[in-house]
Amino acid sequence: MIGEPLFDAESIAARVADIGTAISADYAGKTPLMIGLLRAAATFLADLARAVTIPCQLDFIAVNKYGDGDGIALEKDVAIPVEGRHVILVDDTVDTGLTLQYVVKRLLERRPASLAVCTLLDRPHRRIADIEIKYRAFEVPDVFVVGYGLDYLGRYRELPALYAHGTWPA
Ligand code: IMP
Ligand code: MG
Repeated sequence: MIGEPLFDAESIAARVADIGTAISADYAGKTPLMIGLLRAAATFLADLARAVTIPCQLDFIAVNKYGDGDGIALEKDVAIPVEGRHVILVDDTVDTGLTLQYVVKRLLERRPASLAVCTLLDRPHRRIADIEIKYRAFEVPDVFVVGYGLDYLGRYRELPALYAHGTWPA
C-alpha cells in the first residue's frame, strides 16, 4: 500500500543535480568509475551519470543475501578492472550498512586509487556497520521506501517518485 510521495520526481532531480555537480568538482581531471549496486541503484545511477559533467565510466555489481544471518555473496562482478581507479560506489539505500560493508571490502582488496560511497537514501538509525558516506541524496526515517528503482517484493521499481510503503517485506 503506497500513499503520497515522500520525495517527488522534481525533488529527486534537484538532489541528483546537486550530487552531479559535487562529483564533477571533486573528481575534476579524473575519470571516476561509477559502480551501481544492482538492481535498485540502476535508476539513480542512470540519472546521476547524466548529471555529471566530467568523463566517467559505468559498471554494475550485484550481491545475494542468503540464510537468515548476514550471509552475503557476490552474484555479479564488475567487468571493468578496479585497480588504480577512482571508484564511486552507488547504492540505493544504506540501512544496516552490512551489504555495502561487504562490497566495499571486496573492492578495496583490488586496490582502487580511491573509493567513495554515494547513496540515494540513508537510514542512519538502523546502522550496524560503520560506513563512510560521501554523497547522499536523502536521509529517511524508519519507513520502507519504494519507487525510483526501489522495490517491495519486485514491485514499484518503475515509479518516478519515492513513496513510503505501509509495511516492510517479511
Ligand atoms: P543493508 O545491508 O541493511 O544496508 O541493506 C541495504 C539494501 O537493502 C539496500 O541496498 C536495498 O536494496 C535494501 N533496502 C533497504 N531499505 C530499503 C527500502 O526502504 N526500500 C527498498 N530496499 C531497501
Ligand atoms: Mg540495494
